[in-house]
Order: sequence, then structure tokens, then C-alpha cells
Amino acid sequence: ETGDAIAALLLAWYDRHHRELPWRVAPRELARGARPDPYRVWLSEVMLQQTGVETVKPYFSAFVEKWPTVEALAAADTEAVMKAWAGLGYYSRARNLKACAEKVAALGGRFPDTEAGLRELPGIGPYTAAAIAAIAFNRPAAVVDGNIERVVSRLHSIATPLPQAKAEIRERMEQLTPASRPGDFAQAMMDLGATLCTPRKPRCMLCPLVEKCSAVIAGDPEFYPVRPAK
Ligand code: ADE
Repeated sequence: ETGDAIAALLLAWYDRHHRELPWRVAPRELARGARPDPYRVWLSEVMLQQTGVETVKPYFSAFVEKWPTVEALAAADTEAVMKAWAGLGYYSRARNLKACAEKVAALGGRFPDTEAGLRELPGIGPYTAAAIAAIAFNRPAAVVDGNIERVVSRLHSIATPLPQAKAEIRERMEQLTPASRPGDFAQAMMDLGATLCTPRKPRCMLCPLVEKCSAVIAGDPEFYPVRPAK
């Protein structure tokens, strides 16, 4: 199956070239049996919803230092949480963060381990639920963010403009996501989109998927994803 071949190529690249990020457990640690902390995965994904990686890094570190567990965050003073969030923007995220921590603390401090269970929590939409299910709980959830939309629309040279293309992109991502290491696969797609499969001047000569990429074969990767005519 070509989906599995693509996943194998991408995971081998990720093993060598993954970014070191404060919320990420490296593949060699996972292989030794380390498990990601769902609290850290959740906190990072909420921060990353509308804010870039470099901005999020110091905020993430400050939060986990101040509030190392979901129970600690649940017990925190709301004003202190809002103050620690200041600068990240979209302040409804901070209010939902606190509400979500309180709910999870009331559940005994354990996050639900399915997309459906996660979706019931404040501030957790389809993207965040899939990301937590895949990264923290190793579930083969299809994670689709803006970077992944670009990678998938190039890989399959999807000619339908966004946003109509979203359903097809999701289906393709479902087919591509492997049963083994789905969390690393999602993060590898994100890293590929951030470092090589960039919006402008993608560095296809370094891409592990170059030989599988329909947009490269068609000759114009930058053409995808197609934007609607204005
Ligand atoms: N953007 C959103 N989630 C991310 C993650 N887990 N790693 C890198 N970039 C991301």
C-alpha cells in the first residue's frame, strides 16, 4: 500500500531530522518506552493553535514550571493564568485552558484518550482532539493543520481550491496515517511543512517524499494548495 510506503519514508526522515521542541518526546525516547505526558501535549497544542512555534516555546516552559500538572493548573488563580498567557493573544484560549484543566482534574487528572472524549472538553476542537489522541495516546487520528494541508495537497496534487479541498485532504490524511507511530507521523508532517515543504521555494531536493510527490512530478509544487479566485 502506498500510504504505508509514504509513512515509512517520512518516519525514517523524522528519526534523523525531527525538531527538538520542549513539549516533544524524541523518537529514540519513545522507542525506549517513554510515554508523552498528555498534559504537556494538550498545553502545547492549545498554545500552538494560533501562535507560532518560536513564540510558544518560552510560554510553554514558563507554564509547565509554574504549573507542572493539570491539577496544579486547575487549582491556579485565574488572574495568574491570564497574566502568564499575556502576549499569546486570543484570550478565550486561556479561559478555556483553565476550564479544561478543572474538568480534567475533576475526572481524576486523566485526559480522555479518544478523539470523541477529548472533543467534549472546553477549547478542544477537531484539530486539537486529533493531535492529542495521536501524539499522547498513539491513536491513528488524522491530524490536519495548515502545514499538513499544504503537504497533502502537494503530495496528491489536489486541484480543488481551499476550503472545498478540506474534505479530500482529510480523507487523504486518514489513508496516509499509519497504525504504528501515528503521533510521530503527524509531527513529521508538521516538521516537513515547516522546514522543507514551505509555502514558497520548497526544498524538494531534500524531501524524503520527492519521488512520491504528484506536485513535483507535475512540475509545480508551489501551485498547491490552490487558493480560491478572489
Ligand atoms: N504545531 C502544532 N502542533 C505542533 C507540534 N506538535 N509540533 C510542531 N509544530 C506544531
